[in-house]
Amino acid sequence: MLDITPLRAPTANASQTGEANGTSETAFDFVGQVHGFDTAAPVNANTAHAIDDAMTRYGVLVFRGQSLTPQQQLDFASALGPLDIGFKRVAKPHNRLGYDTLADISNLDESGAVASREHRRIVGNIANQLWHSDSSFQRPSARYSMLYAVVVPPEGGETEFADMRAAFEALPALQQASLRELQAEHDALHSRIFLGDTEYDAAQRAAIPPTVWPLVRRHPGGRSSLFIGAHASRVLDMTLAEGRMLLLDLLEHATQPAFVYRHTWQPGDLVIWDNRCTLHRGRRFDLTQRRELRRATTLDA
Ligand code: OGA
Ligand code: MN
Repeated sequence: MLDITPLRAPTANASQTGEANGTSETAFDFVGQVHGFDTAAPVNANTAHAIDDAMTRYGVLVFRGQSLTPQQQLDFASALGPLDIGFKRVAKPHNRLGYDTLADISNLDESGAVASREHRRIVGNIANQLWHSDSSFQRPSARYSMLYAVVVPPEGGETEFADMRAAFEALPALQQASLRELQAEHDALHSRIFLGDTEYDAAQRAAIPPTVWPLVRRHPGGRSSLFIGAHASRVLDMTLAEGRMLLLDLLEHATQPAFVYRHTWQPGDLVIWDNRCTLHRGRRFDLTQRRELRRATTLDA
């Protein structure tokens, strides 16, 4: 029902390390580009099923040339599941877009001007540059995130996606088996505190208590997937040091160029990813340039 072509764009890193363009036939099969689809149109149950099926197969879907108002983006997202609020339960720097369920992924202040680097919300932009799975710090966590580009900077500011199913499957069987026994705690403030953003009061710290997830989760499509990223703060039944080192090692493995797709944004792009089986991160850009995206997210419920 959906017209999809797999995307095989290598990351810049992949070409630098000599993994030639397209040599790895399946490496980017977790990303599909959808053609001839208008995400502003109402989504019926059949279409929602078709998107679910495609997401189960791919993990990331790219729709180009879209034109979405905030309400249309939320309507599209709502057709795919209940909406997530995520970190806004801890901190609401401002609500420029006027919807609790639409995340303002921009470097703009409440007036719509480029925010100064010291502005409180810029730390959120930078936290998004750490590999993560949206809302993995809560239960239910996020299922699909839908990020829509309005204004993109002339350089940088790409978003990268890493395939956690392929990464898990590439591990030796013995390591896969031992990882299946482990669980990690995910904490909403872990990455913020790492970045030096520590000004949260007791109520904010209590707003989203840490939650525990298996390190390996089974995806509805039947494949297993690593579940890690910047919110994972410790591994249960391990010392802090040993657990954090394990998390860092797994992240390094799972974000090798062979597992990563880099999306270079054009205004009008809508990208959907499955947070259960991918990690993502934003890339650096000149913070004095305008970058304006909007994200709607569904709960894995
Ligand atoms: C997000 C996110 C990264 C980016 O919207 O969830 O992590 O490139 N964005 O802005
Ligand atoms: Mn994110």
